[in-house]
Parts: sequence; structure tokens; C-alpha cells
Amino acid sequence: MADMQSTQAAAPMIIRRTDYRPPDWLVPDIALDFDLDPALTRVRARLSVARNGDHDRPLRLDGDGLVPLEIAVDGVPLAQTDWHMEAGAMIIALSGDIHVVETLVELVPESNSKLMGLYASGGLLCTQCEAEGFRRITFFPDRPDILSRYDVRMIADKARFPVLLANGDPVENGDLDDGRHWARWTDPYPKPCYLFALVAADLACNEDRFVTMSGREVRLGIWVKEPDLPRTGHAMEALKNSMAWDERVYGREYDLDVFNIVAVADFNFGAMENKGLNIFNSRYILADPETATDIDYDGVEGVVAHEYFHNWSGNRVTCRDWFQLSLKEGFTVFRDQNFSADMGSHAVKRIEDVRILRAAQFQEDSGPLAHPVRPESYMEISNFYTATIYNKGAELIRMMALMLGPERFRAGTDLYFDRHDGQAATCEDFVRAMEEGGNVDLTQFRRWYEQAGTPRVRALMTHDPASGQVELTLEQHVPPTPGQPDKKPMAIPLRTALFDPATGTHHGDQLLMLTEARQSFRFEGHVAAPVLSINRGFSAPVIMETNGSQADLAFLSAHDDDAFGRYEAMQQLMVNVLVAQVAGRLADDDAVVAAIRHTITDPGLDAAFVAETIRLPSEAYLGDQMTLVDPDAIHAARDALQHKIGAALEPIWRDIHARTKAGGFALSPAAKSARKLRNTALLYLVASGTEDGAQIAFSQFHEADNMTERQAALGTLVNGTSPERDAALDIFYHRYSGDALTLDKWFQTQAFGFHPDTVELVEELGRHKDFTLSNPNRVRSLYGAFAGNQWAFHHRSGKGYRLVADCILALDRLNPQTAARLVPPMGRWKRFDADRAAMMRAELERILAQPGLSKDVTEQAGKSLD
Ligand code: TRP
Ligand code: ZN
Repeated sequence: MADMQSTQAAAPMIIRRTDYRPPDWLVPDIALDFDLDPALTRVRARLSVARNGDHDRPLRLDGDGLVPLEIAVDGVPLAQTDWHMEAGAMIIALSGDIHVVETLVELVPESNSKLMGLYASGGLLCTQCEAEGFRRITFFPDRPDILSRYDVRMIADKARFPVLLANGDPVENGDLDDGRHWARWTDPYPKPCYLFALVAADLACNEDRFVTMSGREVRLGIWVKEPDLPRTGHAMEALKNSMAWDERVYGREYDLDVFNIVAVADFNFGAMENKGLNIFNSRYILADPETATDIDYDGVEGVVAHEYFHNWSGNRVTCRDWFQLSLKEGFTVFRDQNFSADMGSHAVKRIEDVRILRAAQFQEDSGPLAHPVRPESYMEISNFYTATIYNKGAELIRMMALMLGPERFRAGTDLYFDRHDGQAATCEDFVRAMEEGGNVDLTQFRRWYEQAGTPRVRALMTHDPASGQVELTLEQHVPPTPGQPDKKPMAIPLRTALFDPATGTHHGDQLLMLTEARQSFRFEGHVAAPVLSINRGFSAPVIMETNGSQADLAFLSAHDDDAFGRYEAMQQLMVNVLVAQVAGRLADDDAVVAAIRHTITDPGLDAAFVAETIRLPSEAYLGDQMTLVDPDAIHAARDALQHKIGAALEPIWRDIHARTKAGGFALSPAAKSARKLRNTALLYLVASGTEDGAQIAFSQFHEADNMTERQAALGTLVNGTSPERDAALDIFYHRYSGDALTLDKWFQTQAFGFHPDTVELVEELGRHKDFTLSNPNRVRSLYGAFAGNQWAFHHRSGKGYRLVADCILALDRLNPQTAARLVPPMGRWKRFDADRAAMMRAELERILAQPGLSKDVTEQAGKSLD
């Protein structure tokens, strides 16, 4: 025991990618016996171990917070001298090449507040093992390149835990005569221990069936608390659609007889792809019109698909080590993005994905926590479940898919899945499969995995009227990032079209490959100077700078036949105006109003696309365009422009708002689009300053038969100080105080709002009786939302920093993983004025000074100070 405490207090170690070595011992089989009880659970593990290669190194079994009550090798209890603990692992010297190692430990799931390993949530017991939670359940070599066959037996009180689930297929069960019962599950597919899962619960099941392309019937189950059953329909539809989609698009079929999903209230991330037993944050399962917005519905669909797709991209082919995390995450995000696009609108989905990429990943890539898609080192792997690994990783796959084209990309993925099925693979394996299957050379492309930082591409176009020649010169620059001062040029695929300003058409979309630091491309036959549309569809995750005028942008916002290009032109038009205004320069905002007028009166456009396009860029995105962020000036300029757009087009907003009111609720794409546009019209109508703004918002709030319109109305009211604001908040609170997921919205809307006293409000909400640090969703709703509210968080008093730092310090004692996720906003200090920067640094230093700080927060806060 003394041993273990001293290892925990030791300085956190840095793990390096280049230190990878194949495992000394393999574990082909493991049998687990759980005697489950929230207050005391006993776990007996029987590992068959096999020496891997010719060496005499001992067996190392990771254990985190575990005390071995029994250890036996080949049935013989070990003497004290036959094993020892060293740096969080049990070391056993073994003489032969195969042995059976048995251990017994005790756990207290109900006091596991980290939500890693075996824990209790809302009366049920569940597990979370990725990345390194299995070592909190039993002694085991906890690394993803050890694949084992699992045989799991669970015993629990039958009245409290009538449902016993684990990975794979159920094989046996029975009753004991003391009121307890047992079940045995086996998983025929060897898997890494991070995919292990079990659930013991009193839950109801939405049961369904899916027949796979080869005609096998799969039993599907979504397990939730009984009253939540009516809210599981959307998740079930999403699951069946995902299964069919992976067969159709990737030729990949499900491989077990059952597929179960369990929803739990306390969860550190969105969901987890455990083999045959996905465990979900209930936020991504439960949806009905009364409590879920259209964004929530899309979130359910996307995350259900994501976890299901992991069955091939992650489970059948897993990761060799955690540096390869993007191998499964980047690819799986790419797959779920395309699935959602196929289920709805490709144009709108692409716009949403790029917006998320820019908001989260570009910000990460330009700050102290920037890291490559395949990182070189880490202290705590939980900190690397980032937008870079997930979203930039997905963009890398997207670029390869674009360069290869659909057929060759499919040949590449077929080769990848077939070649590596049942293996723990690397990002390099994936790229090699793309090269061989697609018959391309990706040598230079590999730099996308190695170099961090968002490339900047500058485009300079010149036109010679006499010859009709156009010269497009492209320059790229990859900025320095921590540990990478000098960068090499990337291979950047840029979809490009040159528009004839007279006809509004072009001669085709070309894929330009920018591979040099500076490179020129020539085009013939342009009588008039063309308008450049580049990085169409956001073909590469770069920051583009062009020498096009505001008039060119207005032209593209009206004529580009690439939907993303059209959106992008409009957004850039707005960004240019706002950035100029923040800098105190005059800018022609009438051009923005005119472009918006043109877009909202174009009858050929999808309403959701219109809504996305005409919304002003977020304050955080605007801040990102500036070397020095002035949160107050940004807020003021954006607010003023919003007011101007609102007032100038007021009759149109009024008309749209009235005409998009639906007769009844539907979840069709058309109905969702209409709601999105209606909420945007409401936003501008209220921003116009019209006298009845708050009343209109309040009626929408009051009359809405769905959460999409209700929450949007609440959000608009929360930004102001009208009496309707307090009334609406009060009604919302009382209507939903019994429903945690919906009450989260009550916290979140206020923390994300622009009420003049937002900082004080958040401080009060942190003391509200419904606030708790033990539920990650609640923490994110309040402090996560607040830290993303640039204007409020960066209040010049520094109070916002103090609030978030206090939360991090308190939460670190309970749940370090979730605490560490609140650190990054504080790391943007270099981009702010000296006063704010000093206050942010002081909070980071205060955090680092806390005795016993977790390595999760130590790593994030430490790096954020550099
Ligand atoms: N692998 C999961 C996914 O992307 C996410 C995940 C990683 C996770 N680590 C976790 C979930 C820890 C919960 C807790 O789908
Ligand atoms: Zn994932």
C-alpha cells in the first residue's frame, strides 16, 4: 500500500511514440468473474499468458488503485518474494512460456467519481475502459496491442440488477438461492482491454432486429430507464440506418448475434464503442420533440453511427498504441460525417463540420496545446482525445478520399480492412493501404500526420487581358508549433474554379495539388478577369487568403455553384467587415446587408443552408482572425452589425418568421430546415431593436411544440434584460427541473448568453441547488459553455478566469479527466492584452500549485503556461 502511494506521487512520466516496443507477454485468453455490488465488488481474473519472443523479462500487469488479495500462477499461490509492485504495475517473474495467472481484487464502484473503470451511475453499474480504465478493474497489461478472448461471468442481486450485460454473446445464466443471479457472456473476437464492458442494471429495453447483407439476424437492444423508453426511437432508427449504410458504402457487416446500447447519466465523453455493448452518455440516446432540439437529434444520429462504425474502424482493426488514436477516431469521424450527410443535406453537413473544425481545431492548432494528428509524446492519454485527433484526423482521410476518387478510395479501405482484420494497426498501415489500394504516392502527404499547425495558403491571381492568360500563384506556410519550429511544405489538394463574372459560370472544377512552398498554375482562355473560387468544399483544412475584393466575395456568395463556396464567401465578407470595424477602420457593411438580402430572397435555396450562411461568424471565430483579441470590441461590432442587418431587413424577418411557423411537429429535413431559418429570423428580428421583439420571442417560447424553437427563443431572451427573460427562465426551470438533460439547457443557455451580468449569473448558478460537480454534463453545461463565451469569460475583471479555475481545482479531486477539459480556454492568454494575459497566467499558476494535482490537469495547465 505504501508502495502504491509513493508511485502515485512521483513526477508524471512522459510517454514517447518512438519508445514503442512489442509486448513481452501476450494474453490470448482471459476469464473474469465479477461479484457485483456498488459498495464492494470482487473481481477474479484468470489470464492465460504467453511469452512473446525470446527474452527473459518478467510479466508486467498494470493496476491503478488496486490491491491484490490473491495472486496465483498455474494454481499455486505466490509468495511475497515472487512478485512486487513497481510504478503502478505488478511484476511477476515467470519461468515457462505459457502460464495461467490468477488475481483477486476488490473495488468500490459507488465511490469511483472519476467515471473510469467500474462505477455507479443512477443506480446502475457500468464500465468505461478507454483509454486506461481496465487497469482500475483488474491487473492486466493495459495496452491496445494485446488482444484477448473474453469469458465473463457476473453475479449480482437480481432485484436491484435484473439486467446483466457484457461484450459478445450471452451464453448461460441462472439464479442462485440467495436472491442473486448470474450470467455468462463470451466474445469470440479477440479484443484489446479498452473495449471491455459490462453493465448491471434495472433497465428497460427497446428491442429490434436487423438482418445483415448475408442474411444473419442481429438482436438490437437500447437499454434505458423505463420512463425513457419512448425517447429511444430516433437512436434505434439511426442504428439500423448505420448498419445498412456500412454494408452499402464500405461492404462491412455486423459480426455478432446481439448489439446492445446502454444509456447512462454520468459519462465523461459522448459514448464508447465497447464490442457489442456500446455505452452512451444518455444525451446521445434520448430524444423527443419536447426535450430535444434538432441539433440534439442530429447529435444522437451522428454518435450512434460513430460508435457503430467503430465496430470495423477501431474494433476489428484496432490501434497498436495510443499515438495511433486518430487511426480509429479520424477515420470513424469521417465515416459518421458522410453517413449524416447521406441522411440529410451534404451542403449543410459540410458547413457544420467546417464550423466545428474551425472553432475547436484551428484554435487548438494555433495555441500551446497544438499537436500533430499522430502525436510524438504525452503525459496523460486522456488529454489527447482532441479536435486534432478527431476532426483534423477526419479531414486527412477526406483529403485522401478526394485525391483517390470514390472507387480507388474504396479499394484502399477494402485492402485496409482485409489486411489488418484482427490486428492492432498504425496510421502508417492505413496510409500504405491507401497507396497500394488506390495506386498513388502519399510520401509527402504523410506530413499531415507529422506536422502540427494549420497551414496558411495565400492565393495571388493575375490576369492578362491580351493573352487571356491567368496566373494563380499559391504560397503555403505552416506556422511553428510547440516542439516543431521549422516546417516542410505540405501536399495540399485545392478544388478550384475560375468564374466568368459576366456569365456567372466556370469551365469546371479542378483539383490543384499544392506541394511546394510557392507554386504557380496557368489557365488559358479568360477574356475577362475571372473570380477565384478556391478550396471549394473545404477540400483542405487550411486558412486561405486571397486577393479577391469584397465585390468578388459578394459575387461568389450569389453565384458559386459549390454550396460551401457560397457560404464561405458570405462568411468572409462578414469577417472582413467586422475585423476592419474592430480595428477602428471604416468598412462597407451595406454590402453585407445586400448579400444577405440576396440570399434570403433566393427561392432556389434550402432554408437550412440560408440560415447557416446568413448567421454572423461567432465572436470566438472573429477573435481567431486577429493577433490580439479584444473581446469587448468584437462583441460590440458584431452586435452592431447584427442590429443593422436586423433593422435593415426587418419586414423580411417578420415575414419569414410568420411564414415558417409549422402546423405540427415533423422531423423531416424540410421541417428542420424551416425551424432553423425561423430561429435565425427571430434572432435578427429581436436584434433589430423592434419594440415587440421580446414579446415575439416570448410567444415563440410559449407556443412552441418542440425544443428547437423553445430553446432558440429562450436563448434570444436570455441575451437581453426584458421582463420576458426572467419569466421564460422561470417557466423553463419549473417545467424541466425533473429532467437532467433538459435542465442542462437551462444552465447552458444562461452561461452562453450575453446578459450584462453573465459572469455573476454563472457564479450564482455554480451555487444553485441543481448544480453538481459529479455529473460531467452539468459541469460542461455551466462552466464549459461559459468558457466558450468569449465576451463573458474574458471579462476584464478577471472574474471569469477565477470562476473556471476554481471549478477546475474542485473538480480535479473528483474527476480529473473532465477537469482537464476546462483548461484549454485559459491557454489562449498570448492572444490577449497584458492585463488579461497576466490574470490568466496567474490562474494557471494557482492551479499548478494545488498539492496532489492530477497528471491530467498538470499536463494541460503546464503546457498552457509555455
Ligand atoms: N472512443 C470513444 C469515441 O470516440 C470516446 C472515448 C474515449 C471515451 N475515451 C473515453 C468515452 C473515456 C468515455 C470515457 O467514441
Ligand atoms: Zn470514436
